[in-house]
Amino acid sequence: MDVKSSIKTSFFFLILLFCVILFFTSPCYSDPDQLQDFCVADLNATTTFLNGFPCKPVSQVSSSDFFFVGFHKEGDTNNIFGVGVTAGNVLSFPGLNTLGLSMNRVDFSPGGVNPLHSHPRATEAGIIIMGKVLVGFISTSNVYYSKVLDEGNMFVIPKGLVHFQKNVGPGKAIILTSFNSQLPGAVVLPTTLFASNPEIPNDVLATNFQADETVINSIKSKFGSA
Ligand code: GLV
Ligand code: MN
Repeated sequence: MDVKSSIKTSFFFLILLFCVILFFTSPCYSDPDQLQDFCVADLNATTTFLNGFPCKPVSQVSSSDFFFVGFHKEGDTNNIFGVGVTAGNVLSFPGLNTLGLSMNRVDFSPGGVNPLHSHPRATEAGIIIMGKVLVGFISTSNVYYSKVLDEGNMFVIPKGLVHFQKNVGPGKAIILTSFNSQLPGAVVLPTTLFASNPEIPNDVLATNFQADETVINSIKSKFGSA
């Protein structure tokens, strides 16, 4: 190989190395960009995709695929938390498939709490539509950030951080939240820890929380798994 072609080869491998490094170190801030105008999810397709669905044939796509009428009704808050979450994600609104975003309507009874949870795939932005709501999250440095918000105020929860909202007003409250993922996922701490299937062994939870196993059993019973 002459000098010229060995320089060319080295240059090629250098560029290749650069691309590989760039690929593995680039942060991914949201779902990937879409490759076409739209890809309305075919929820019945048998092929499985990671956080995504194959597209319906364009000939079967209609206006109704791009409109979601699920947020006009109050969510059911008749549960131990006093909260009702209506999800407008790809599963309820297939037109969101590949578009990298979704929304929730969250209803609170007076005193209701949207329990401590995190979204592994999305940052959350929200707005208070009705009432007065305490919004809080905890950073990975274990700092607790919180504020009581009124109607029209907005908040943001950085991706993956544990957070909650509590209705601290005298009446009902409503928030609308949005996510930079078509399916942000939710790890709800009380049910993840105390109502998983199969359950986390009591001795593991007892050591984690430095509590007696009777306390663990009592908490589990609140979620119907003891
Ligand atoms: C609120 O935290 C939500 O996930 O909708
Ligand atoms: Mn959330």
